[in-house]
Amino acid sequence: MKNLNLALKLKYLHYLKSLGFCYVKPIKDFEIKESFELPSSMAGLKTTVLGCHLCELAKTRTNVVFGEGNENARVMFVGEGPGEAEDKSAKPFVGKAGELLTKMIENAIGIKREDAYIANIVKCRPPNNRVPAPSEVASCKPYLEKQIELIKPELIVALGATALNSLLGQNHSIMKVRGTLMEYKGAKLIPTFHPSFLLRNPSAKKEAYADMLLIKSLLWKH
Ligand code: URA
Repeated sequence: MKNLNLALKLKYLHYLKSLGFCYVKPIKDFEIKESFELPSSMAGLKTTVLGCHLCELAKTRTNVVFGEGNENARVMFVGEGPGEAEDKSAKPFVGKAGELLTKMIENAIGIKREDAYIANIVKCRPPNNRVPAPSEVASCKPYLEKQIELIKPELIVALGATALNSLLGQNHSIMKVRGTLMEYKGAKLIPTFHPSFLLRNPSAKKEAYADMLLIKSLLWKH
C-alpha cells in the first residue's frame, strides 16, 4: 500500500507539471491523503484497475486484464501477467498456457474453470512477455491483495516463481517448493509450475499433476 501511495503522489506531481508548475513551494495546511482506500466491491475495484496508469505497462497495453471467475471461489489461481492473447481479449489465461491451465483445473482438479477465480500479479502485459519489474509488481499488488480480500479463497495456487515470490515477498526456488503447503494471509497457498513452463518442459507435467491432486484433496477435505 505504501508503494501505491507513493505512486499516487508521483502521479499528482506529474499532473502539476502538466499544468505548468516546475516547482511548488510547500503549502501550509495542504496535505495529500496519506492512505488511499481501494473500492470494497469487485465492480468498483475493476473500474479503478481499468483506469490505472500507475506504471509504465499502462503505456503499451491494449487492455487491462483484471481477472475473472467466481467471486466466491474456494480456489484462486494467480499467474504472472497477461500475454499477447490476454492483452487482446482482456481475459486471463486464454492463450496456449490458458488452454493448459483450463485442462489442469477441469481434468485434474475436477472443477469447472468458471468456479475458480483466475488473476495475475500484474494486470497489464509486460512488453515481449518479460518478467514484470519489481516497481510494476509493487504498483499492481494492492489490486491483487484486494481481490484476494474480497474473494477470501481457501486456497491460492501460485503459478510459477514470479507469482509465488511476488505474493510472499520472498525468493523461493519454484523447483524446490512446488507442491508444498504454504500460507498467505490465512489462506492455504500451493506453488506449482506455470503452465507456460509446462508447455516448454512437458516432462514436468507429472509433478504439476501431483500438485493438482493435492489441491483436489485439500478441497475435498470439507
Ligand atoms: N501467463 C500468465 O501468467 N498469465 C496469463 O494471464 C497468461 C499467461
